Amino acid sequence: MRIFLDTANIDQIKQSVKRGVISGVTTNPTLMSREKPADYETAIKEICAIVPGPVSAEVVVEDAKSMIEQARNIATWAPNIAVKIPATPDGLETISILAKEGIKVNMTLCFSLNQAILGALAGATYVSPFVGRLDDIGHDGMQLVKDIVEIFKYYELATQVIAASIRHPQHCVVAAKSGAHIATVPYKVLQQMMHHPLTDIGVTRFLADWRRISPE
Ligand code: E4P
Repeated sequence: MRIFLDTANIDQIKQSVKRGVISGVTTNPTLMSREKPADYETAIKEICAIVPGPVSAEVVVEDAKSMIEQARNIATWAPNIAVKIPATPDGLETISILAKEGIKVNMTLCFSLNQAILGALAGATYVSPFVGRLDDIGHDGMQLVKDIVEIFKYYELATQVIAASIRHPQHCVVAAKSGAHIATVPYKVLQQMMHHPLTDIGVTRFLADWRRISPE
């Protein structure tokens, strides 16, 4: 499983790229608005220049004609752009046209297996089931990830599954066990994935023992 960072924050992206663990970034209008960028295009271009892999940038219009037009423009911003298109009927029309033009699409706001199948058939490069938001309303978000992975495998659909709306490290564990191709995680969860109290205790103890035998 690969890890993408779910953020538009430049410092978080730089830090995570430095650690060599992320191979992509996903943004959305909410994440972007938190950073208060002067200009959407400039902000996405800056992220694309830092990240060694796909960067998802979302359309911010609703009907197919406007989404197609905006997505075509976003796709010119950098070679590693994946345009995020919502899992709506107009979204499907948009995805099928963009896919034929060779534009990478991440179908976002996916909440059902049916939406995922349709997104794959329309030609999406990625589909993003939103695990945390399903959990929030009492559904089993990770079960959806498992179902999509299984069905894509069974029907040999090449679309990759991004486990999204990740809220805690256990989501990452289950995403990996479920065969998700990618988990897109907030910075806080990435930090939590690496942290273990026994590692901290072990490092402190090793260094203390070493200091006892080594001269100042
Ligand atoms: C994924 O691409 C989305 O940006 C993200 O995972 C949404 O997560 P949220 O439900 O925490 O907003």
